[in-house]
This record gives sequence, C-alpha cells and structure tokens, in this order.
Amino acid sequence: MSLLTLPCQRLTLAVLSPDQADLESDFYQRNQKHLAPWSPIRPTDYHCAEKTRGRLEIQASAFKAGLAVHFAVLNNDGNQMIGACNFSSIVRGAFQACYLGYHIDVSHEGQGLMREALVRAIDYMFDEQNLHRIMANYIPGNERSAQLLERLGFEREGYAKAFLSIAGRWQDHVLTALVNQRFETPDQRWTRRLA
Ligand SMILES: CC(C)(COP(=O)(O)OP(=O)(O)OC[C@H]1O[C@@H](n2cnc3c(N)ncnc32)[C@H](O)[C@@H]1OP(=O)(O)O)[C@@H](O)C(=O)NCCC(=O)NCCS
Repeated sequence: MSLLTLPCQRLTLAVLSPDQADLESDFYQRNQKHLAPWSPIRPTDYHCAEKTRGRLEIQASAFKAGLAVHFAVLNNDGNQMIGACNFSSIVRGAFQACYLGYHIDVSHEGQGLMREALVRAIDYMFDEQNLHRIMANYIPGNERSAQLLERLGFEREGYAKAFLSIAGRWQDHVLTALVNQRFETPDQRWTRRLA
C-alpha cells in the first residue's frame, strides 16, 4: 500500500512503498529510450525490481524524515505508473526549499497530465510540507520542460554551466524557481489555527 495517495482528476499521485517496486521498475524499463537524453547514465540493472525496491526503502525513510517526497504518477486505476515527480534535498531552517525533477511516459506526453500532477504536488509541498521555494532546472533546448515550468509560474533565476552529468556529458542548465507566496512560519500557522 502507498505511503501517501493524492487523487487528481485524471491520475493519482502516490508515494510508493517498497512492495510496489514492480510498478516503478516497469515504468522505467518501458521508458528507457524516451528518458535517456534527460537522465544520468545508469548501470544496466538500475531499474530492475530488486534495485528499485532498495531505492524505495531509502525513499520511504526520507519521506518519513521530511527529507524528500518522491511521487509516482499512477493512472486512476492505480495499476500502472505513468510518470514521476520528485521533490528532493529538502532543506529546512532559513531556506525551506527543495529541488524538483519530473518525467512522463512517452505515450502520455502532450496531454497536460504532468501539469495536472505538478499543480497538485506543488500545492501539497507548499501547504502540507510548508516549503517556501521549489527549484527546477532544465537543459537549454528542452522546450517541453521549459514550457511546463513557465505555465506553472516558475521564474528563471540563472544559468549554470556544466551543472549536471546527463546522458554522459556535463550539461549547462537553466535555473528556475517557484516561490510560495502564501508561506507561513510555524508561529504564524499556529496563531491562524487558534484564531
Ligand atoms: C518534460 C515533460 C514532463 C513535459 O510533458 P508534457 O506532457 O509536455 O507536459 P504537460 O503536462 O504540461 O502537457 C502540455 C501539453 O499537453 C497539451 N494538453 C492537452 N490537454 C491538456 C490539458 N487538459 N491541460 C494542459 N495541457 C494540455 C498542451 O497543449 C501541451 O501540448 P504541446 O506541448 O504539444 O503544446 C515530458 O516531455 C517528459 O517527460 N520529457 C522527458 C523527461 C524530461 O525532459 N524531464 C524534465 C527534465 S528537466
């Protein structure tokens, strides 16, 4: 059973438990070619069910500790994974920020599904996880990613040279972020709830 489920109109967001490794393994094996230009080079067995299960165990601990939220995007029947949106490296203190990464199944691209998933997931990260900033970066030329972020209100903040090793090359990235305009400190939240 998933650790968290957020139903949306055409899909469901779920933080998978380790015993759902087959769903995730199947998604990445189906989409290996589609995602290769935008992914780090991985060992050949990286997406097998056993290795996936090991990563889901680590992600479950990170979720419980408030350090990361890895959402699988499932179809509404919950029997197929069609995408992912991952909020990682959550930093608290004065920063209250994290990084976002996402991808959708090749056969579900161009239908507004990733946008639908991210609208719900970002609301959760702002309203339930109470983050102030979500940072998302893309390789220049990844037009689908650029348009998606723009439509969600992310703003360009910079340009980092040789930022990540993607598809075997250190590649420049455009840096963008979305700031939570309704952010409240714990004290403000507490006062509002008592009022
Ligand atoms: C980046 C990525 C997630 C974008 O997916 P996407 O499906 O284009 O994104 P959206 O959910 O915003 O869908 C937008 C498209 O759906 C169309 N659409 C159809 N119905 C829609 C609806 N109800 N609502 C919104 N858009 C809709 C839009 O017109 C748009 O199509 P267009 O690009 O042909 O104009 C996807 O291309 C992907 O997984 N790429 C590979 C991995 C990757 O690059 N990840 C990001 C690394 S930074």
